[in-house]
Amino acid sequence: MSEYMIQHPETYFNAFIPPRDSLLAELEEQARSEQIPIIGPVVGELLFILAAAAKAKRILELGTAIAYSTIWLARACESTGGHVLTLESNPDLAERAKINLHRAGLSQRARIKVGDAIEEMAEIKEPFDFIFMDIDKQYYLSALNPCSRLLKKGGLLITDNTGFKDADDFNQAIAAHSDWKVVQLYAFLPAHSPEKDGLCFALRV
Ligand SMILES: C[S@@+](CC[C@H](N)C(=O)[O-])C[C@H]1O[C@@H](n2cnc3c(N)ncnc32)[C@H](O)[C@@H]1O
Repeated sequence: MSEYMIQHPETYFNAFIPPRDSLLAELEEQARSEQIPIIGPVVGELLFILAAAAKAKRILELGTAIAYSTIWLARACESTGGHVLTLESNPDLAERAKINLHRAGLSQRARIKVGDAIEEMAEIKEPFDFIFMDIDKQYYLSALNPCSRLLKKGGLLITDNTGFKDADDFNQAIAAHSDWKVVQLYAFLPAHSPEKDGLCFALRV
């Protein structure tokens, strides 16, 4: 490691994990104990910043789980006057997500639809400004064309967990696709599941 770089960067950057309230901390604890993979506070804050900076009014999330990431996105919508539509195939998780959004005071900012994300997207007509994709990785490729259709030009598609083998076909396809300008980051993401993973940032062009 270069002498100019901070030593033990993973320990060092852990100190910059964004603060969060007791509800998010409780959901992180639930996710840890039940092994529900969530984005954690660093990627949560990143989504908040990107959605707020993009002034996103219509946000689509694929993969709600217990609404941890949905809460970060819906909080960004409080400054933009926007709304989140989040799609979750597991009805039990969707029920918990609904309760958590209510507890966060965000029931008016986010709506959960239970069903398969690819099938649900086929029924949607109105475009979105921002899409966050976090479903099972083997479905990412099937979601790519629906995302192209549903995201406005100039909108952002953020895809989690692109370091997984099952995301490889999606990673290859979006890199070669003329609808997208894409960057992949492989990063240390404290408290993300897993802590070293890929994140894909794609601009709809
Ligand atoms: C990684 S978890 C989502 C975590 C959440 N985004 C967070 O960070 O708080 C993935 C979720 O997607 C759901 N899921 C997987 N495949 C799906 C599909 N095809 N359609 C809708 N939901 C799906 C799973 O049930 C699971 O709850």
